[in-house]
Amino acid sequence: MSQLFTMAITYLGTTLIVGGTGMLASATRWLVDRSERTVVASRRANQFTCDDARFVPVSADWKHPSFVSLVGEAIKEVGPIQQALLWLHDPEVIIPSLLPLLGTARVVLVLGSRQAQPAIPLDAARFTIVRLASVTTSSGRRWLTHDEISEGVIAALQDGHSRIIGDIAGLQ
Ligand SMILES: NC(=O)c1ccc[n+]([C@@H]2O[C@H](COP(=O)([O-])OP(=O)(O)OC[C@H]3O[C@@H](n4cnc5c(N)ncnc54)[C@H](OP(=O)(O)O)[C@@H]3O)[C@@H](O)[C@H]2O)c1
Repeated sequence: MSQLFTMAITYLGTTLIVGGTGMLASATRWLVDRSERTVVASRRANQFTCDDARFVPVSADWKHPSFVSLVGEAIKEVGPIQQALLWLHDPEVIIPSLLPLLGTARVVLVLGSRQAQPAIPLDAARFTIVRLASVTTSSGRRWLTHDEISEGVIAALQDGHSRIIGDIAGLQ
């Protein structure tokens, strides 16, 4: 691989990830590999296995009032966020408090099959929505694997297009 190509895919600036240490672990590592610094916030972010000096864990609970200030302190250290990946159990509650920290960052928001799109204005030019569905097989339906979820999220991070991962029909 040429050095130029390596440089082109390894520099994404500064990234914020919330809720990326479970099913999105592969997408989180993909972003850490390509970002100048990546702030990763979850309750046990400091236990996430990531041997990379550019990984900045913030162990914080989004149900706790200190969540936004703890994430904000980390962002002050690393500089303005250029992209964010958000997987939140209650996006309508958490996103408004995160918006001031996001500035003009591009945001990929992951929504579960039954999660409604948050009833808050999301700038369509900045927000890419990734909806999780399920997979139809010859023996019925199955849920997405973690690899399928991370692959779809990485595709959305790359092209900025909202998408459904899997087949939503029958889930609505
Ligand atoms: N097809 C679908 O629609 C769909 C939708 C949802 C889930 N699923 C499946 O269900 C499984 C479990 O889903 P899951 O929601 O448990 O996802 P998960 O991605 O495995 O874990 C949730 C993520 O959010 C963080 N988190 C949870 N509560 C938090 C809090 N209060 N404050 C801060 N961070 C918090 C967790 O880290 P910490 O534990 O460190 O806080 C983790 O990073 C997954 O394996 C997935 O395959 C499928």
